[in-house]
Amino acid sequence: MDLKVVTKSAPPAPAGGEVTVELLIVTINPADLLMLEGRYGVRPPAPFIPGSEGVGRVSAVGEGVTLKVGDIVMPMPGNTWTEQVTLPARHVVPLAAGVDLEQAAMLKANPATALVMLQDLVPMQAGDWVILNAANSAVGQNVVQVGRALGLRVACVVRRAGAVQALRDLGADVVIVDDGTGPVPTLPEGATARLALDAIGGVATERLAAAVMDGGTVVNYGLLSGESPRLSAHDLVFRGLTLRGFWLASWFATAGPARIKQVYGQLVTWLGEGKVGAKVDALYPITRAADAVAHAAREGRDGKVLITTRFLKG
Ligand SMILES: NC(=O)c1ccc[n+]([C@@H]2O[C@H](COP(=O)([O-])OP(=O)(O)OC[C@H]3O[C@@H](n4cnc5c(N)ncnc54)[C@H](OP(=O)(O)O)[C@@H]3O)[C@@H](O)[C@H]2O)c1
Repeated sequence: MDLKVVTKSAPPAPAGGEVTVELLIVTINPADLLMLEGRYGVRPPAPFIPGSEGVGRVSAVGEGVTLKVGDIVMPMPGNTWTEQVTLPARHVVPLAAGVDLEQAAMLKANPATALVMLQDLVPMQAGDWVILNAANSAVGQNVVQVGRALGLRVACVVRRAGAVQALRDLGADVVIVDDGTGPVPTLPEGATARLALDAIGGVATERLAAAVMDGGTVVNYGLLSGESPRLSAHDLVFRGLTLRGFWLASWFATAGPARIKQVYGQLVTWLGEGKVGAKVDALYPITRAADAVAHAAREGRDGKVLITTRFLKG
């Protein structure tokens, strides 16, 4: 990976219908690391500006735009690891003036992934169980929060004991430590899950599937192990499990504007109420982006690594 901080000229002044946004905080997600390594679902030709989400402040508006200079917004397009960008005003989501900027920077990808996986893939009823691995990830924390808001019961699987208490505090019904070698995780009192959310792949998919009801669904949405998800013929044929993938980028392309607006409307409300959010381990100035990326790639960190720009204090 060849990551460099470069100085570029400022973006053009906004034309009619456009705004210029000064980015304040941007996020480092596993997808960004994969993209930097050329291992993601899309491989932009180098050089490219990484980053898929962030929060910024409007610094200039073109004609016909109702947003005002100073408004806090979440840009929806990617390439966010930059200080300023000019883009169509319809491509930003307005946020409240006093919003928690760190949490706002993390709103676009992971909370939406959690909400959509719990609402749009399988008909879930209040009281149904969902089980997920890598549950101390940001998506995992958001699944616990959204699952609770939807009345679901949430079983979390993590690989280290140090991650248990925070998930309990967040409201997880059960937290199981599974290092991949002992007995497979099970739910209390013989319960089974309608839905399993697998971010790891390989044998971890199969271990999670053991807690899913016959006819239930396993969704793979991440490959943290670097291996493709594995499910036995017994699970697929005799137990009738469905294994499917989920990618938020495909959801954006197919969900339609009304559903996208509904999802982000809900998330912005929950953000304001402090009902969605994830832990933050560290913030780095953009000039130290390479250190930030190295930190984000480390095992056992306690939350997200965020990048700040010089406009944060301005
Ligand atoms: N498909 C989609 O649309 C979509 C959207 C968003 C995110 N994702 C995926 O969701 C996953 C989580 O993303 P995130 O941003 O929430 O992550 P994150 O907050 O950066 O946390 C990463 C988590 O993964 C755990 N982990 C890493 N490697 C692991 C392994 N080999 N086995 C078990 N656990 C492992 C870490 O555990 P420790 O704390 O123990 O190190 C940590 O909890 C990633 O795979 C990401 O690509 C997919």
